[in-house]
Amino acid sequence: MIRNFIFWLSTKKGVTNAIAKRGMRYGFARRFIAGETLEEALEASGDLARSGYPINLNHLGENVSSKEEAAAVRDSYIEMLRKLDAAKMDGIISIKPTQLGLDLDPKLCQEFCCQIAEAAGSLGRIVEMDMEGTPYTDATLEIYEATQQRYPGQGVAIQSYLRRSERDIERLIALRPKIRLVKGAYLESPELAFQKKSEVDANFCRLIDLLLNHAVAGRCFPAIASHDPAMVEHARKGIAARKLERNRYEFQMLYGIRRDLQQQIHNEGHTMRIYVPFGTEWLPYFMRRVSERPANLWFILRNLVAENSRKRNAS
Ligand code: FDA
Repeated sequence: MIRNFIFWLSTKKGVTNAIAKRGMRYGFARRFIAGETLEEALEASGDLARSGYPINLNHLGENVSSKEEAAAVRDSYIEMLRKLDAAKMDGIISIKPTQLGLDLDPKLCQEFCCQIAEAAGSLGRIVEMDMEGTPYTDATLEIYEATQQRYPGQGVAIQSYLRRSERDIERLIALRPKIRLVKGAYLESPELAFQKKSEVDANFCRLIDLLLNHAVAGRCFPAIASHDPAMVEHARKGIAARKLERNRYEFQMLYGIRRDLQQQIHNEGHTMRIYVPFGTEWLPYFMRRVSERPANLWFILRNLVAENSRKRNAS
């Protein structure tokens, strides 16, 4: 219920404007977002990379409204790849189809994805596609398939809250995909998505097993992307039981979330890739993170109240 309330809150301009105006200036958005510029993101990534964490860099943004904007996003992704490479950082990038014009022209979006994958390949890197809300699931999978056929080795996110996800994995498996398994971050209807945490978690564990079985047979590369200790433990046990080599799977977590668990997994010798988001369009991403944990809402409110009392004291 709190999650629904926060999603509702995120449609209220007064609230989101206040957060957008103050979030970076007063620092509370920096807990989840590496900064507004690529330079800031590379600095944060550099610190992580030096500590042995490979990076998954994401330029925040979604649902662009013109083809020119989408082309500029493509260029910015190619620029990110070049800068990662110039910095000799162990890193890949994540892209969002609606940020590359999926709403406007799916064919053009597909072409842009292929161009980014080609640029990544020329630098020995890969691209992962984020999965957005269900209006985009089919189109995203089609674009992923087309890109993966031309430039093998790319990744795509699959959400365990969707009832269809097991079928989607089986459909993709012939392409030897990299699959980033996540729980799912959007508000979806009960017809399409499990609503209870216990159901989403049970499906996550089922899908971990499925992916690990395919990985043993060399048919996919799983990336387990969750901060939930129970999911991590299930994956750890499954990996050990199957004696899966360390270079045939990875864990992923979001920048700034459960750093203790990130370090623990890294210290155990697993690959722990950190998803590092940056950019001026950080608000929707930020609100999704807030909705996942009510304590984050109190964290923002405390910051806003502290700022107001600082202003009152100053005047
Ligand atoms: P869950 O929400 O059950 O949380 C488990 C525990 O993790 C919590 O008890 C808390 O300790 C900690 N935690 C989780 N979220 C937190 C937060 N925001 N702040 C503080 N602590 C938190 N989704 C999607 O729909 N499409 C996508 O492409 C991606 N991509 C993606 C990449 C990566 C690398 C990750 C880790 C996640 C995504 N997601 C995503 C988001 C994902 O779907 C999901 O919403 C979040 O990861 C939260 O779910 P958990 O698996 O962490 O479990």
